[in-house]
Amino acid sequence: MKEKIGVLGAGTMGAGIAQVASQSGHPVVLVDLNTEQLQKAKANLAKTLSKLIEKGKITEDQKNDIENRIEYASDIKHFSGSSLIIEAIVEDLAIKHKVFETLENVVSENCILASNTSSLSIASIGSVLKKSDRVIGIHFFNPAPLMPLVEVIPAVQTGLETLESSVELIKSWGKTVVVCKDTPGFIVNRVARPFYGEALRIYEEGIADFATIDWAMTHFGGFKMGPFTLMDYIGNDVNYAVTESVFQAFYYDPRFKPSFTQKRHREAGFLGRKSGRGYYDYSEGSVIPSPTEDEDLGKQIFNRILVMLINEAIDAVFMNVASKEDIDLAMTKGVNYPKGLLLWADQLGLKNVLGDLERLFLEYGEDRYRPNPLLKRMVKENEIFFN
Ligand code: NAI
Repeated sequence: MKEKIGVLGAGTMGAGIAQVASQSGHPVVLVDLNTEQLQKAKANLAKTLSKLIEKGKITEDQKNDIENRIEYASDIKHFSGSSLIIEAIVEDLAIKHKVFETLENVVSENCILASNTSSLSIASIGSVLKKSDRVIGIHFFNPAPLMPLVEVIPAVQTGLETLESSVELIKSWGKTVVVCKDTPGFIVNRVARPFYGEALRIYEEGIADFATIDWAMTHFGGFKMGPFTLMDYIGNDVNYAVTESVFQAFYYDPRFKPSFTQKRHREAGFLGRKSGRGYYDYSEGSVIPSPTEDEDLGKQIFNRILVMLINEAIDAVFMNVASKEDIDLAMTKGVNYPKGLLLWADQLGLKNVLGDLERLFLEYGEDRYRPNPLLKRMVKENEIFFN
């Protein structure tokens, strides 16, 4: 029998993580204070698995096994005997602290205590533990059963054994694991910021409208969705909150400055698809506006956003957030970028990327456009990321 896995919080993420663990053959205990939420999670799982049967991906027996392996409970006492608990409750440090303190009383010495937090520090979450070398970040992407990437984040307290067994376990669930430092936004939510931020800035300057910027990124960049379409999918409330939290956590580094346009959309309740209107109108009968398909303008927009993304990916290498391989993997597997940003930089030529950033920096005189020192060094030494 495989190890027992505990998942705390049966919301969007917790329910998905429980499904992943159960599909990999683990007995799972899914705990939520809210019993309605537990019932909802159970009903949603049944629906999802039925769809998988229709598609011929699993059999009726497999569906029953996956369902039977998950125990739904409202008391964390049921976690007893687990070898790993993944916490996926509300993103609130004070509440997570309380929960981690009590978790330690119901599990064994060797149980790993992980958080799926997107924005809080793992070191801080683990600070309440008596045995703090067992804390770790295990960050799934939404929807957890479909997105292949998982960021594993050791905190300063995390023991090597905790890290190694977490990586091994999550890999055994068929996930692509990247290991990254306990820094704001980890890899994906840090490196991806300019995809939204620079697109919003280009719009605010009046260079192009939403549809044209989206077209530039899909047409020239091969991104599956343009930034405004994607923000409307994610929700402007959720996306804005991530940007603001990364900005604050980086001591207000202007590179991560949130945008008024997005803030106003959020304030107006233009949250995106879920509210029927975001940057675009999704109400019945409405038509998404057509882009201005001006090749030169489109290339300029795409290039400006891309070099800003590349600069951010290079900064993550420079600050040892993760290996260059993991940074490229994270962006292709976590947010479906058509290519890793560092490989893209090599192909564009690092000298050209630096040239574009220097032109932006000179024109605007703003810190957000400052080229990363590692990029400058690599151009000087004639180096590339991948041979
Ligand atoms: P959610 O709001 O869908 O679910 C949270 C669940 O936790 C709710 O069912 C709630 O009843 C339960 N809960 C709250 N306090 C509890 C407690 N003390 N004990 C037991 N259950 C409790 O939230 P979501 O979106 O699933 O996010 C959960 C965590 O995952 C957060 O830390 C978030 O930052 C992170 N995350 C979210 C992603 C997303 O796209 N939604 C992506 C990756 C990480």
